[in-house]
Amino acid sequence: WVSAADGRIKGWDWDAHDENGFAELMNRNEWFDIDAGDAQGQANGYASRTGVKVVTANEELNEFFFPGFIDTHIHAPQYPNAGLFGSSTLLDWLDTYTFPVESGFGTLPDRKTGHQTTTDPQDTPLHAQQIYSQVIARTLSHGTTCASYFATIHIPATNALASLCHTRGQRAFIGRVCMDNPSFCPDYYRDHSASDSTTATRHTIEYIHALDPEGKLVKPIVTPRFAPSCSKPALQSLADLAAAYTPPLHIQTHISENPNEVELVKEVFPEADSYTGVYDMYGLLTPRTILAHAVHLSAQERALIRARDAKISHCPASNSALGSGVCPVRTLLDEGITVGLGTDVSGGYSPSILEAVRQACLASRLLGHTAAWKRENVNGEEKGGVGREMLSVAESLYLATRGGAAVVDMARDVGGFEVGMLWDVQLIQLGGVKGEGSPLDGGAGDGRVSLVRAGPIGNVDLFGTESWEEKIEKWVWSGDDRNVKAVWVGGRLVHTRG
Ligand code: GUN
Ligand code: FE
Repeated sequence: WVSAADGRIKGWDWDAHDENGFAELMNRNEWFDIDAGDAQGQANGYASRTGVKVVTANEELNEFFFPGFIDTHIHAPQYPNAGLFGSSTLLDWLDTYTFPVESGFGTLPDRKTGHQTTTDPQDTPLHAQQIYSQVIARTLSHGTTCASYFATIHIPATNALASLCHTRGQRAFIGRVCMDNPSFCPDYYRDHSASDSTTATRHTIEYIHALDPEGKLVKPIVTPRFAPSCSKPALQSLADLAAAYTPPLHIQTHISENPNEVELVKEVFPEADSYTGVYDMYGLLTPRTILAHAVHLSAQERALIRARDAKISHCPASNSALGSGVCPVRTLLDEGITVGLGTDVSGGYSPSILEAVRQACLASRLLGHTAAWKRENVNGEEKGGVGREMLSVAESLYLATRGGAAVVDMARDVGGFEVGMLWDVQLIQLGGVKGEGSPLDGGAGDGRVSLVRAGPIGNVDLFGTESWEEKIEKWVWSGDDRNVKAVWVGGRLVHTRG
């Protein structure tokens, strides 16, 4: 039962699909009232419910509700490049693939002044609007109910992304990317000063606050791209900007993704004792900060992140695709750091968090073979030996839901099914079991399938012998968006499978 008033879970009825005709009310995406005097309500012994919606899962078709996925790190404008990275690694990938695609989201400069004077999302190029619409539709179709987006440096397009999320009903954090360091960023795609970076960010914050004053669905997030792309004054003023709001704004950036990047940070910031130290020095390491990747952190850096209660977005598909390394997630978790999953499109090739779940499991299984992990186990034997690095399917799904919810500071509202939480949910359908004599075949035993719905859906083949745990494992290893039948955000139906 979902409440119309606030889109939150009101209660559960585990046998709501019983024989008594109540099924008629099911799966209607309308709000309605069932009072105690209502014949059906009485017949079922339900208490009075007003302004509720009933949503049901059909167990015969192996349907189940799962909390919506939370993508804690995704670059919306990079979606056209998903799957395109060749054999590049981070720093040349940025120059070859990423800055060119992002730079296409700008407006034409004012003919007289040469400046981009507009903040109106209508001034976003049509192709940018189309790409942003497509990213939202695709991520929703994969069950992502909440995403923390990096946009580009452009104000109108960033505002357009916020508007589109708001209209389509996807929960989102929207970050205008800041990058003003001329020795790192190309002239054709950068902010021209620290104050440009900050002022432009403020414009997008104001726009988003006007769009969604209570931040019910869409919120701004301050987004210095990463340390090497930002001048020191920009890092400082962006931290000050985030801190100037009540409550302080969220912050997102990248950290310690690739060994050459870590070296570069040492060169550019000799005054800091580590990459993490750079962000801390400028006040960017807060309990509302999302740090993407965190592959090559030292023990001291992890301790600092823990002390500041900053959060980590683990992006395993991207880390493998760009050859960045293997993130020691087990160590992060053991040390008490909050971790969620990110697709990192298009360092990551897929907009699917289910793919990230699978890749998190796989990467963890390879970690024991890396030199860094072997060293860690020699030095820290008490932690347990090889094998402790492995993430189970359940742990990885936790990172995709409750972990992500904690990363975006919404653990009380999303990521689970407690009464009072928001109905941010995907309805997964694995399909029926086909076979002679199966009740779903009509039971005639004549080899004819009498109900079309009897077959499996997508790649998940079930044989009728699986426990629910095993069905979930099969979903994780072989499922995809074909298994996502419907998606709701805050009680609003935002996607149904075509
Ligand atoms: N570091 C700086 N910018 C980026 C980016 O766009 N993607 C990834 N994966 N890492 C980055
Ligand atoms: Fe990224």
